[in-house]
Amino acid sequence: PIVLVLNGPNLNLLGLREPHIYGHDTLAGIKAMVEAWGAGFGLDVEFHQSNHEGELIDLIHGARGRAAGIVINAGAYTHTSIAIMDALLGAEVPTIEVHLSNVFKREAFRHHSYIALAAKGVICGLGVQGYLLALEAIKGLVSLEPP
Ligand code: DQA
Repeated sequence: PIVLVLNGPNLNLLGLREPHIYGHDTLAGIKAMVEAWGAGFGLDVEFHQSNHEGELIDLIHGARGRAAGIVINAGAYTHTSIAIMDALLGAEVPTIEVHLSNVFKREAFRHHSYIALAAKGVICGLGVQGYLLALEAIKGLVSLEPP
């Protein structure tokens, strides 16, 4: 089964960007970990990052009828993008929202998520481990599906 792991704006700067909040792992490092972990669950991870809302939406459209799950860290679009939420609702692919930081410990504007309205579950505050737990959740959902 294919799982799309989508990363939104500014996540290309991981490792450099506010490491006290987001940690020292680079996006390339996270990609390698996520792919290896996914393979361990028998999942084919397609890992992407984009700073462009429309590109993320196109990737989500591409998941419809094809991917078993979506793991998405939409970055700041989490708090602003009705368009990404609508794309996820339209894709009808089980989605887990992930954030590296605990957004509820941070500014009030990070407490609301449009993505959450389209997500099955949300994981935040656990750093890179959140992505791995999200893959485990998707693996669980896939194995619950009737054959
Ligand atoms: C983030 C949290 C968002 O509020 C922020 O805009 C990001 C990263 C996280 O992974 O903690 O870019 O999604």
